[in-house]
Order: sequence, then structure tokens, then C-alpha cells
Amino acid sequence: MRLRVDLANPYDIDIGENVIEELNTYLKEFYPNSKILVISDDYLYKIHGEKLEKELHRFTFNKYILKNGEKSKSTGNLVDILEFAAENEYRRSDLVIAFGGGVVGDISGLFSSLYLRGLDFIMVPTTFLSAIDSSVGGKTAVNLKAGKNLCGAFYQPKKVFIDTNFLKTLSDYYFKDGLGEAIKYGMIRDRSIFDEISKEKVTKSYKNLPSIIKKCLNIKKDLVKEDEKDYGIRQILNYGHTFAHAIEIKSNFKISHGHAVALGMKIMVKYFYEDFYHGFVKVLKKYDLDYDIDFDTEEIIKICKVDKKSREDKINIIIVKKLGTCEILKIDFNDLRKIYENR
Ligand code: GLY
Repeated sequence: MRLRVDLANPYDIDIGENVIEELNTYLKEFYPNSKILVISDDYLYKIHGEKLEKELHRFTFNKYILKNGEKSKSTGNLVDILEFAAENEYRRSDLVIAFGGGVVGDISGLFSSLYLRGLDFIMVPTTFLSAIDSSVGGKTAVNLKAGKNLCGAFYQPKKVFIDTNFLKTLSDYYFKDGLGEAIKYGMIRDRSIFDEISKEKVTKSYKNLPSIIKKCLNIKKDLVKEDEKDYGIRQILNYGHTFAHAIEIKSNFKISHGHAVALGMKIMVKYFYEDFYHGFVKVLKKYDLDYDIDFDTEEIIKICKVDKKSREDKINIIIVKKLGTCEILKIDFNDLRKIYENR
């Protein structure tokens, strides 16, 4: 199945089993003379690198392999990839392939936006989380010491290939990372996603997984079309994320993004949608997404202050009071403190 992200420079997302096998044909048609730079991570590349390289048959390519994990999304690695591209004489007509999860996608996208002021890049997300979120919409970034994604750019890919076979080799923990984000889409826009996850047992081999991915991406692409640069409505994609980013950092990234989003949403539900709290936590527990956290309030709020939805002494938060709908609310940091302390 195919979805189109309808921006000034539109692009397609192909979703399904074995869509990676269309890559070679795509490259021959659109980038016949390009040299390719594959950016990936060591864990993933060991498992699936061969499958990708088969599609690069007859193309000249180099690979830059990062260490798996959020810590690789660093300014240091960004500079190293830039130097690597220059040493290997990449030109503006060449192409970057981001092959991996969110870390690989985010740093590859930012690199592509910077190198020679812009190289084309395509995304091949290999995790559930990156398939339904970071591979689409053009947010690219690396982390700074003060917070996640603080150095970045909006830079859209030329094409996204979501091969659902890659998701089958995810560990349960990282599959559930994606469920955290899928639950978010259900909460903010489409309760059928939440209902399905809550009623069924959604696993890596769940037959309807491609349809859940499609529903999530339909929401995302519409929001990106309406507000590409995240000044307004796109911010609703950040439901639960203000606390989530702080939780990730305070856990030294032991709690990964989707799990932290689940905990961030739990805090928001407890404060703004109390009637639903019990039902919400039941779903989190079903997927091992519920943990007790005890990070110091002031340290959490300090991190929240550099959130990208923060302006002067206020911050936009996303609230859900009815399943499948949400609103943006501007509050001050004292109120944010109260919400965290109420958890
Ligand atoms: N991950 C949220 C967004 O793309 O806006």
C-alpha cells in the first residue's frame, strides 16, 4: 500500500512485506548515476545489511555504521559523517539511505540537510516506532547535552520504504516502543487505533499491523501537510512527549522513547482525564509499558524548559479529555510542575 505526503515536494511512503525489494528498481529509475551513502547501526546491519546490499547491486556505495542506541545521535557523530562524506567525495547528485530506526533516521536526515547544503535522502525505517513516526515528516536532529533533538532541521526525505518484515526481528521491548506511539495516535485522533490495541494482542506478527501503521501515518501526513514546520496543529503529535523526553534523559536512555511516551501520557491522563485513568493504565500494563518513576520534579521541569514547545515562561501542552480528540493548552511551568507532582 502507498501513502502520499502531499507537500510542496511530495513523496510516497510504501508499506508492506518485502517492499525493500522495490528499492533497486526505484534507484535505477531516479538515481541511476548516484553514489550512495548508507547510514545504519551495527546491531541492525548485522541482521539485515545483506538484504539492503542486494538492492544496491550495480551501485557504488559506502556505509557509515553507528553504534546502536540513542547516544549515537550526537553532534560528534554528525561531524564525523560530514567529514566521511567529504573524504569520499560525495557530490550533490548523490544519495543517502537511512537504514535503521529513529536514531539513524534523525541523524541521517540532518546530515543530508547540511552536507553541500542538501543531498537527497530516502528512509528505510526498520523499527515500528520509526515507521509510524520519525521516518515521515522531515524532522531531523541530534541531541545536545541539555536535551533531546535540540539541534535539527526540517528536511523531507524523497521516499520512505516501510518493509514490515524488518519489524519481525525487533525485540519485544522495542516492538512495544512502537506501541507507545501507536497508542498516542489513538488518544489524539483515532480511537479505533486505541480500541484495537486495547482489545487485541498486538504483537510483531499481528496480522493487522500494516493497517495500524497506515492509520498512524494517515494522521501524521495530514498534520504535516497542514503544519510542516510545527508552529501549530502538528504539535499534537507531541502528546505525552514533554515529560517523555525528560524521562528518557533522566533514565540515561534506559527507558526508550515509546516507553517514555507511554509514561508521559499516563501523567497527562491522570491529571486531565481521570475517569479514563484506570482503563488507560490497564492497556499500558497489558503491554508492559507501565513503570513507577521517581525522578526529581525540579530536574524534570528544568529539562522541560528547553522543550521546543516552550516559549518564554510558558509551554504548550497537549491534552486529551475524550478518547480520539485533543487540544493544545498554553500553561506556565508552575502548572507543569503540578501536573508532574500529581502522577
Ligand atoms: N514526532 C513528532 C512530529 O514529527 O511532529
